[in-house]
Amino acid sequence: MGEREEKKNSRRNFLKLAMTASILFMVGGISSLLRAVTNPAPPPSYGLTKTQQRTFPKVKITNISSLEVNKPVIFNYPLDNEPNILVKLGTKAQGGVGPEGDIVAFSQICQHLGCYYNYIPPNSSPSCNSSYKADKPVGYCCCHGGIYDFTEGGKVIGGPPPRPVPQVKLEVDSNGDIYAVGMGPPTIFGHNTGSNDVSYDLLGGNIVS
Ligand code: FES
Repeated sequence: MGEREEKKNSRRNFLKLAMTASILFMVGGISSLLRAVTNPAPPPSYGLTKTQQRTFPKVKITNISSLEVNKPVIFNYPLDNEPNILVKLGTKAQGGVGPEGDIVAFSQICQHLGCYYNYIPPNSSPSCNSSYKADKPVGYCCCHGGIYDFTEGGKVIGGPPPRPVPQVKLEVDSNGDIYAVGMGPPTIFGHNTGSNDVSYDLLGGNIVS
């Protein structure tokens, strides 16, 4: 075989090798893609175990003896920067605790665009809208007039919010201490990760038990 023939052969072998390598690379890429589509990656774990992600903390808020009807108490839960309103309504309410079943708490973050709303007792008006007079205990959002019914689990009774405000699950011990022990659905505004699990959404990155 002449020198020219040898050069031709080695070029042919190189081309064959290059083609085989690209086919293998493409097949590998396609199968990874198929794997990703049929078996999507789980939500990020943020380095926490499943138990840590799904266990709400138990946090003392106040004592029954220091509550007055229609005087709200603001507290953060379940994260340090998530304000909630706790209030003794003076009338029995859905999910209410205490001897009268009238102590409730809700996320203070409006489900429309995330403004903080305020508690408005019956027969009073929010500072931003004197033409509205509450006929029951409500949360009123001055950004766009969202209204939440505090006696019925935070359901929307006015304005643009698309869903209720999440209710904080409360417990009262024999000393009258009131604790936050969890949050009901829907997820606090701004925390939805696409998971169906509210506790996952809420506890995602910051709670370490
Ligand atoms: S942000 Fe509350 S009604 Fe729009």
